[in-house]
This record gives sequence, C-alpha cells and structure tokens, in this order.
Amino acid sequence: MKEQEILDALATYVEHKMSGEGSGHDWWHIVRVRNMAEKLAKTEGADPFICQVAALVHDLADDKLVADEVLALREVRRLLVEKGMSRDQVEQVMLIIQQMSYKGGTQNHLVLSLEGQVVQDADRLDALGAIGIARTMAYSGNKNRIIHDPKLPIRQEMSLSEYRSNQGSAIAHFYEKLLKLKDLMNTKTAKEMAQGRHDFLERYLQEFYDEWDAKR
Ligand code: ADP
Ligand code: NI
Repeated sequence: MKEQEILDALATYVEHKMSGEGSGHDWWHIVRVRNMAEKLAKTEGADPFICQVAALVHDLADDKLVADEVLALREVRRLLVEKGMSRDQVEQVMLIIQQMSYKGGTQNHLVLSLEGQVVQDADRLDALGAIGIARTMAYSGNKNRIIHDPKLPIRQEMSLSEYRSNQGSAIAHFYEKLLKLKDLMNTKTAKEMAQGRHDFLERYLQEFYDEWDAKR
C-alpha cells in the first residue's frame, strides 16, 4: 500500500476505536496531534509519514486507557504490519509510542528519535493553551476530581501511581504537569508555540484566582 493509503486505513481504524472516549483522549485529540505532527515534521525535517502514523496510534496502548498495555502494544504492532508498513518503520513507530508518554515525568530521561520528538511535542502542545485547559477540565470531571481546592498541596515529584491517583484537582494539574511542559519541548518550532500557549495558561490562572477571591 502507498503511504497515503496506509494513513487513511489507520485513521479509519483509530477513529472507530477512540470516538466517544470521554477523558479528553478522543478521536479529535488524535486528529489535532496528527496535524500538528505533520506541521512540525515539515519545519524540523522529520519523516512526515512516520510522524503521522505514530500520532495516529499513540494513545491506542496508553496505560491509563487500556486494561492490558502489553497486549494493546502487540495489537498495534499487528495492525501496522497488516496495513503494509515495513519492519523498520513498524519498529520506529513502536519505540516512539512507548517512549513519548509523560507519565508524571517518569520518562523525561529518555532520548527520542527526531520523529519521536516531533510527535511528543505535538501531543504536549495539545495539553497547553485553550485546548489544554478544556482537556484538563474534561479529564477531571471524568475522574471525579474537583476543579480547585485551595487547601490541597501541589505534588512536585511523583511516582506514576501517585500521578494517576484521584487526589488533586484540575487546577493542581496545571502545576503538576501543564506549566512544566514549555521547558520540556524538543523542537524549536514547538518551543515557540508552547510559549504562547503557556502564557495563555498563566493568564487563565490569574483570572481564575481573581474570580475565586471575588476580586473581579
Ligand atoms: P500522557 O498520556 O502523556 O502520560 P497524561 O495522561 O498525563 O499524559 O495527560 C493527558 C491529558 O489528560 C493532560 O494533558 C490533561 O489535560 C489530562 N490529564 C491527565 N492527568 C490529569 C489529572 N490528574 N488531572 C487533570 N487532567 C489530567
Ligand atoms: Ni495523546
């Protein structure tokens, strides 16, 4: 199959699998990450095909979305082979999707391929700005977490299970993850875009606290 046909076939599969997901990891998250990855691939000189494939499948084996991560990874590999990707391409994509997840910062030491850096940046940009705020609120509601509790301590260093636990609020997540992302971007293009989205988060928090304190 030609690259475009592989992308179309994968998109159809992933759309079917992820639509209706209610925690902000739905099909449209995948579409945004794919589009951003394609854009970043162009400016950064990465392979646009590998970037788009990895973007399309990056959440299929996410440990918080699937019951059995190892099994889900095996299924993704089978899917990529079935759609006609070469052995080398499949390995590139499998490595990317296993290494790119934030997981509370526990994977920050890993060094990704250029394509992995691009897809990770695209995924992280979707956690910032207006969209990032919407996803965080949606995720919190989905997990029964409250919007804000001024008494709640902000967790700085966390293990993966602490990070995934239900303690904490939507606003706490800004400090536990979102505000850290701008300094974790890999590529120049994403760093620039992250700065704008980061500034928007800061402005949002300021407005939020002002309203919270009945200042405006
Ligand atoms: P990854 O899948 O890269 O490990 P996460 O699961 O931490 O990343 O986050 C994906 C998005 O889901 C976040 O950007 C955020 O919008 C939302 N999210 C994840 N964990 C939380 C949380 N504890 N509270 C609120 N939102 C969260
Ligand atoms: Ni994602």
